Amino acid sequence: MKDVLSSNWPHCMLQEIYQQPEVVAKCLERYGGVGIRDWQARIGEQESEIHILACGSSRHAGLVAQYWLEQLAGIPTRVRSASEFQEAPWPLTPNTLTIAVTQSGETADTLAALRLEKVRRAQSGHIQQSSWLGITNQPGSTLTQEVDHTLLTLAGSEIGVAATKTFTAQLVVFFCLTLDLAVQRRAIIEENLSQLLVALRQVPALMQQVLEQEKTIQDLAQQLVAAEHCILLGRGVNRAIALEGALKLKETTYLHAEGYSGGEFLHGPIALLDARVPVVTIVPNDSSSEVMLATVEKAKAHGSPAIGLVSQNLAAQTTSLFDSQIILPDLDYRLSPLLMVIPLQLLAYHIAVLRGLDVDRPRNITKTLA
Ligand code: F6R
Repeated sequence: MKDVLSSNWPHCMLQEIYQQPEVVAKCLERYGGVGIRDWQARIGEQESEIHILACGSSRHAGLVAQYWLEQLAGIPTRVRSASEFQEAPWPLTPNTLTIAVTQSGETADTLAALRLEKVRRAQSGHIQQSSWLGITNQPGSTLTQEVDHTLLTLAGSEIGVAATKTFTAQLVVFFCLTLDLAVQRRAIIEENLSQLLVALRQVPALMQQVLEQEKTIQDLAQQLVAAEHCILLGRGVNRAIALEGALKLKETTYLHAEGYSGGEFLHGPIALLDARVPVVTIVPNDSSSEVMLATVEKAKAHGSPAIGLVSQNLAAQTTSLFDSQIILPDLDYRLSPLLMVIPLQLLAYHIAVLRGLDVDRPRNITKTLA
């Protein structure tokens, strides 16, 4: 096991990827119980809708959270890119919890969207006021001064431009919030809740097991180092992980990568496929695994190299299908995004290293778009 505290890391991004089990454990310690807790300050108790504003990786965390909030807590949830919000704000709804997510707490688009929403709500006297929650990694940031409540992601400082540990910390905070809301609203049965809590507490150890596969992922990076395009597919709760994996690849390796929902992919983007376009498919053990594997068959029929991120209990049946597969420990599929994202972070990291790129400071972008 690598010593995450040592300073002998070739890049901050790699160290930050390896810090994830520890960061998740910290977030669970703070937020991982269920019931009305000090941190919760009755967030979302009255509201009937949730609106999430964010950019980049923080928006992807919001998309995963949308799945959880709707499917586990039964709360209608919208997610909008904060950079689109000025042009296309959503219709105002009563009793709404608005959540702004930004690891830096300073992203100009996210703050501008939050401010616009506050003005719109203040001007629409007939609509009951919303409450405002910020999720950020920066105590004292501008975001924290503009919301009623803040949930800190406790990831420690993240130096690499690519968001890694702050992303998984956002997911954990969102998942804990979802469980709290589900319990408050009696939207979840006891058995389901206990299963999820048991699974949640296993996450740090399982993340560690994923990290132990770095060598396999490094070999895969070698196979993909010359690729110019790459497609990533996920469904349901992992659709946003396909988007996040594609973003990591784009920003660190400059490879043209796109993430799609496995279903939507068949409605046009599949025309992109040929032997030069590898397809990475996320296959947790859930009700969509069969349909995902059928999509992989189709991709292979067009000549694409097929790479799978596959749950352990499906691995025997998928070995002959995939040209390469990374096997992930079994975990309740609803929590699988927390594991599935790690091989994608490592893949992006290793391709960037093999390409001789400045992993921690990719061209054209800065850590904070203030
Ligand atoms: C992705 C990345 C960016 C940020 C985005 C939002 O790795 O770093 O896409 O996620 O600029 O940044 P924050 O979360 O600080 O608002």
